Amino acid sequence: MKKTPVVLDCDPGHDDAMAMILAAYNPHIELLGITTVSGNGIIDKVTENALRICALANIRVPVAQGAGTAILGSVEAATDIHGETALDGAPLPAPIFELEKIGGVELIAKLVKEHPEKVTLVATGPLTNIALFLKMYPELKSKVAHIVFMGGSASRGNRTPYAEFNIWMDPEAADVVLKSELPLTMCGLDVTHQALVTKEVFARLEKMGTELSKTVTGLLTFFAKTYDEVFEMPEPPLHDPVAIAVLIDASVTKNRFVNVEIELNGTYTRGATVVDTYNRSGGKPNVTVALDLDAPKFWNMMLEAVEKAGVS
Ligand code: RIB
Ligand code: CA
Repeated sequence: MKKTPVVLDCDPGHDDAMAMILAAYNPHIELLGITTVSGNGIIDKVTENALRICALANIRVPVAQGAGTAILGSVEAATDIHGETALDGAPLPAPIFELEKIGGVELIAKLVKEHPEKVTLVATGPLTNIALFLKMYPELKSKVAHIVFMGGSASRGNRTPYAEFNIWMDPEAADVVLKSELPLTMCGLDVTHQALVTKEVFARLEKMGTELSKTVTGLLTFFAKTYDEVFEMPEPPLHDPVAIAVLIDASVTKNRFVNVEIELNGTYTRGATVVDTYNRSGGKPNVTVALDLDAPKFWNMMLEAVEKAGVS
């Protein structure tokens, strides 16, 4: 089976943690490494969480710490959703290995450079590291097969009325990525809000009965509580693993190839992804935007990975 070589850049975060597990345990993905970026929590917390999830799920790949602020320097953690640790809800084991000595952007460059094939970059947090990589290592751009990012929305936002959190956190970085002319896939709120953690999902986790599935249940129970409190959504959307799922089986989403721009200056709309869903603006199509999810297919992939990780 041909595997897709992937570097995952993330801000764990409950849904990032699930993306890590899916990337590490699905046979179609070769997870080369994990890099962290501040977003759901400050960089120290999301990096510690990445190491702890690696310990929890026995994920043995290099992990490196990336950018602690957006390109223009802002930082704001989503503690209202992910809690004070950025991954509240269940005790996590201590890390079982050290961080890489090099930074996150350098690790992306090293893994892209060293792999014999082109590498896919998957971003499930703000795009700061990806943008810095593209700017600092232009000679490696030709070794990037594809950038898949969880972020944006063809409709409304979740951090402001028009901006989704990951893009809102670093719009300049998103603009660099969207102007990169690389193959891009956007998994925005339109598709990720169809990946709901339902009672059936919890029942399937309960049936597994492993230490990992019990910990995942604790984490997702917390995530459901905060999503209900903040967004009146008792069945929370598990955003980030969708960005991995599209690499496993392209039929898991229905997409449109359209023009997407980033609003950088709007008083009320900064950080919005301006998605020309029907190509009416005359803008050059530059992003494959996932819009519809085959939820049963997605959850089978996700829960199979949790089951495999639980007995690893
Ligand atoms: O808007 C949802 C995104 O923001 C997800 O990636 C979540 O983990 C947060 O980073
Ligand atoms: Ca995330």
